[in-house]
Amino acid sequence: YFAKSASGPLTNKKILVTAGPTHEPLDPVRYIANRSSGKQGYAIAAALRNLGADVTLVTGPTSIALPAGINTVRVETAREMMAASEAALPVDCAIMCAAVADYRPSIETDHKIKKERGGLTNIPVAENPDILKTVSQLQTNRPRLVIGFAAETDDVLCYAEAKRKRKGCDWIVANDVSPGADCPMGGERNEIILITDKGDENWPQMPKDEVARRLAVRIGEALAGPSLV
Ligand code: CTP
Ligand code: CA
Repeated sequence: YFAKSASGPLTNKKILVTAGPTHEPLDPVRYIANRSSGKQGYAIAAALRNLGADVTLVTGPTSIALPAGINTVRVETAREMMAASEAALPVDCAIMCAAVADYRPSIETDHKIKKERGGLTNIPVAENPDILKTVSQLQTNRPRLVIGFAAETDDVLCYAEAKRKRKGCDWIVANDVSPGADCPMGGERNEIILITDKGDENWPQMPKDEVARRLAVRIGEALAGPSLV
């Protein structure tokens, strides 16, 4: 069940959401990946849809149901996610929730690598394209509002603020993924810090759906106002 509002604060707004992990194949049975259930990204896509947005969801492989009423593009690798994201432009807002693998094996073979031949102890890698950075720094077609995620341990706020500047995005949604009872990875709840040009906001822990709903409202407010850049 879903309710696409006939009109809402995001009606006529096009929004790109990336979600899930990427898988970077090494051989027919092995890949490099990041940890991501896709839950927070899918919840954000659904919340934006509920406010009337025209959402394109570019998702890596997940084991959860795709949200209904959304133009969804399924991809496997970072390079496919990059291409599908670029194909979705221009958009009013882009929100990059995906846990993109930073590196891919620079060799990929149709033949299974056998460990007894030593082929798995020193895998050559190449750096993947940075989708958030590329979209944030576009000269033409840059979305008015570009939002990144930062899943960090240790000095979460410091790392996330540096990431916002380095990537050139407008907002960062930061969270602490240190292993422990409150780790959001795979769970139903999340506790975020929203970092905008106006400062940092510590949100209390709440269900991922509620984080998504509140973020969607904030995106609606931001896109209703004057240009951010
Ligand atoms: N991201 C992306 N493309 C990549 C890597 C990251 O679009 N190749 C996006 C993620 O979707 C997220 C943000 O960038 O919105 C931050 O990702 P993160 O992995 O935290 O940043 P990195 O720059 O890869 O730094 P590191 O992993 O070393 O912390
Ligand atoms: Ca990374």
